[in-house]
Formats: sequence, C-alpha cells, structure tokens
Amino acid sequence: MEFSTKQLSSGSTKSDCLVVGIYTQHQLSNAALALDRASKGALVKIIKRGDIDAKVGSTLLIHTLNGIASERILLVGLGDSAQYDEKAFRKALTAAYAALNACGAKEAQIYLTALPTGQAKIDWRIQQAVVLAIEAGYRFDQMKSHPTTKPQRLKHITLAFTNPTERMLAQQGMEQGIALGAGISLAKDLGNLPGNICTPTYLATQAKALAKQHRMKVKVLERADMQKLGMGSLLSVALGSAQPPKLIILEYHGGTKTQKPVVLVGKGVTFDTGGTSLKPAAEMDEMKYDMSGAGSVFGTLKAIAQMRLPINVIGIMPATENMPGSRATKPGDIVTSMSGQTVEILNTDAEGRLILCDALTYAERYNPVAVIDIATLTGACVIALGHVVSGLFTNDEQLAKEILAAGQTTQDRAWLLPLDEEYQEQLKSNFADFANIGGRAAGAVTAACFLARFTKKFKWAHLDVAGTAWKSGQQKGSTGRPVALLTQYLINRARMG
Ligand code: BES
Ligand code: MN
Ligand code: ZN
Repeated sequence: MEFSTKQLSSGSTKSDCLVVGIYTQHQLSNAALALDRASKGALVKIIKRGDIDAKVGSTLLIHTLNGIASERILLVGLGDSAQYDEKAFRKALTAAYAALNACGAKEAQIYLTALPTGQAKIDWRIQQAVVLAIEAGYRFDQMKSHPTTKPQRLKHITLAFTNPTERMLAQQGMEQGIALGAGISLAKDLGNLPGNICTPTYLATQAKALAKQHRMKVKVLERADMQKLGMGSLLSVALGSAQPPKLIILEYHGGTKTQKPVVLVGKGVTFDTGGTSLKPAAEMDEMKYDMSGAGSVFGTLKAIAQMRLPINVIGIMPATENMPGSRATKPGDIVTSMSGQTVEILNTDAEGRLILCDALTYAERYNPVAVIDIATLTGACVIALGHVVSGLFTNDEQLAKEILAAGQTTQDRAWLLPLDEEYQEQLKSNFADFANIGGRAAGAVTAACFLARFTKKFKWAHLDVAGTAWKSGQQKGSTGRPVALLTQYLINRARMG
C-alpha cells in the first residue's frame, strides 16, 4: 500500500474513488458540498432518497455522477457533527476501508482526514487513517497453499488536509502511520504463526533479521548462558520441551549514549500447554498466541526504528515452550530465580511469571528509566476486563499516567488495576520464599504481585494483554495490541527528551 497527502483543492480531481463524509440531518462536509455543486445537486438528491442514514460508519457507494470526473464516490456517515470525535473517526474510517476494499478501486482520495475531529490534530488524523488502512488490508495467508482471499486491489491512498500550514504535520503523521502499521503487522504475523513454526529458535532468527534491517544490536542467550546467570526460574519452564529456550535481547539506540533506556520485556511462550498442570483441550490452539507480549516488543521496536525515534529502547524477550515432557517441572518443585529468591511452583501453568521474573532481573543491568513488561499472563484478566482494555499494574504513578494517556491517544486502551501489599499474602509458601500462584481470587493481581517482587529497583509497569492480544472465534487472529500504545508512549517520551 502506498500513501500520499494532499491539500484539499476546490478544483475537480479525478480518482477511482472520492471518499467524503456526511453528517446526520443531510449536513454535508465541505468536500461533499463541492461534489454536490459540481453535480448540480445530484448528491443531495441521492441522499434525500434515504439510501444512507449518515449514522457513524454507514456507507453508500455511488457510481459515475454527471459533472464529476471520478468514477466513484463513497459517502461515509459521520453521525452528529457536534459529537464527531476520535472514536467516531476511527469507526467511520474502518467502515470506509471495508467498502473501499469491497469495490474495484485501485486508488482512493480520502477527504475525511480534513474534517475537524474532537481534539485531534491533523497529524493524528492522518496517522490513524494510515494505520487503519494497513489494518484493513492485513491478510495472513502465508500458511495456505492457495490464498483464499483475493489480493488487495486498492494500492494507493491519498489523504487530505485543509490548510497549507498543516503540510509538514500531515507528512509526519503519514510516515508515523506507515511505521506503526508495519510494527503492528509484524506483531500480528508472529502471533498468527503456528507453534510448530514460531518456536523460540524462530523468534531468535527473526530478531537477528530485524536487527540487521534496522541497525539494532541483537544478543541471544542460550540455555548454558542462562544457567551461568542463575536463571533457574526461566529454565524450569523449558524443561519439558524439546525446543531450546532463548533469551532474546534487541537494542535500539536512537538517543544519546548517556540517555537511560526504556526496557520492554515481552512474554515469549511460543506454546503454552500448561505443562504438567496440563490445560483442557478446548481452544488450546490459541495458546500459540502466548508469545504475543514478545511479538508486541518486536512490533514496537520495528515501528520506532522505522520512525528513527531519538530514544534508547531495549527489548528483552524470554522465549520458551511450556510442555509436559518427561523432564518437565512438577507441582511442588522449588526453583531459585536469578534474583536469589526461591519459588515453589504449585501450578506449572503459571509459567509466564516464571520466565518474566528472570528477564526482569536481567533488565537491572541496563539502568533503565522505566521497565514495561507485556504478557498474556492470566485468564483472570480476561474475566476482569474482557477484550476491550488491557490490564495495567505499576509501582509508579507517573508511569501509569503516561501509559494510560498513550492508550487513549491510540485507542489501544489500558485500565489501572491495584497492587496493594495485602494481595502478596496469597503467594505464601510453606517451603520456598513464595509460591507461583495465589488462588482463584484476583488472579491477575496476584500474578502482577509476583512480578512486583522482582522490580523493586526500577520504575515498572506490567500490561496483562491476555484479553486483548488476539481475537477468538470466526475472527480468530492477532490484534497487534499493544504495539500502538507502546509506540505512542515512546513517541511521547522521545518528545520529552
Ligand atoms: N497464558 C496463560 C494465560 C491465558 C489464559 C491467556 C487464557 C489468555 C487466555 C497463562 O500462562 C496461564 O495459564 N495462566 C493461568 C494461571 C493460573 C494457573 C494461576 C490461568 O490464567 O489460568
Ligand atoms: Mn500457562
Ligand atoms: Zn502462558
């Protein structure tokens, strides 16, 4: 997909499809008004017939109008102009792309980006319009011998802005959108790949490829390296698997040498059977998505590298399978983490925290300004928050604010959950320093409490994306979340300097 931006002109342009907005009560956007004039009122006539109700996300495709050079006009409902905001914008554009991809247009000009939208500026509108176009065009058919979906016909999208002073911002928004779209697509691809292909070794290979492509540093720690570091907790998860575990480290240095980095730690369980505490068979295939945290770190690093953000970011991805092989960890086994703390593993299915804790201890050596871990950590988080927002936990109020704000801006939202000391009691163990599970109550919180015991030395936040990283059922597939949130957080940080 190619993109360009263009200042709105009153002169007629020829396009495969002009995409213009209408509000409720037959109120036309400026672009629609211009088309109505050029067609001597034909547009209003059609609207008055009642074929489009102008609710947010309704669309009507019109072919060849007298007086208009373009082959098609796609009318997009924007709802009430007084209530037209960022959410409505995303809904309208999503509908527009669905209609565009269903028609034969190879090229389209989108005028919706020129319209005022809530608080959003032109760079946000263009960036979002680009990301949504890339998301609408996303396909994952690399595992099919014959792709079942037709290749996308739409090849070029032009996005309009109103004012000549907006040109720079529009261009910047477009470039950021392209980079973010590429990052989201990478995270989706890694997530959607099956567990027999996307193994820890595969992720390590992909990390090397990404590093080469974007001039990042890459380091892959093997089992023996991790043994030397004392990562007994991480390694205990890999015992039941024939696939060797990897600790993958990607370093992006866009900032100055002295600038402390942000560290992103992503859970990379390439398949989670539960281990000895085996999961039930139903929907177990979806546990191929248990590396989505790591996938989002890949995606975010790709996005910020492509944007050339002036910031230092380290990605740390512990990668392993969780399998019930004959050497697998058994309930009751006690392991010693890199931090020296001992853990009684009462349920081998609570493996995410076991690999993250050693990766978090490893993060200390980077002297980070902040550490954010991203993990499909608990089913309990899905029960608490469903599939709308990601669970957020943190030991730093300011960090919470920044992450929540980035989620709002990108509409890749998170919700703050508690980490109160009282919950720590649920992790008591009779035999080790603490256990890896805390009972049924507040399962997402006790998982975060476990991680909190390894993050005392830095500002830290934990995103539980168990409910948001992928979709189940008919629409089964990775969402690429929270790449948009993380990337926006880093854009904002880079701006702060
Ligand atoms: N990867 C799962 C969490 C998960 C489950 C994500 C379902 C999305 C959907 C994690 O490793 C896990 O199995 N967690 C257990 C923890 C429990 C044993 C304390 C869970 O949530 O059931
Ligand atoms: Mn598990
Ligand atoms: Zn898991």
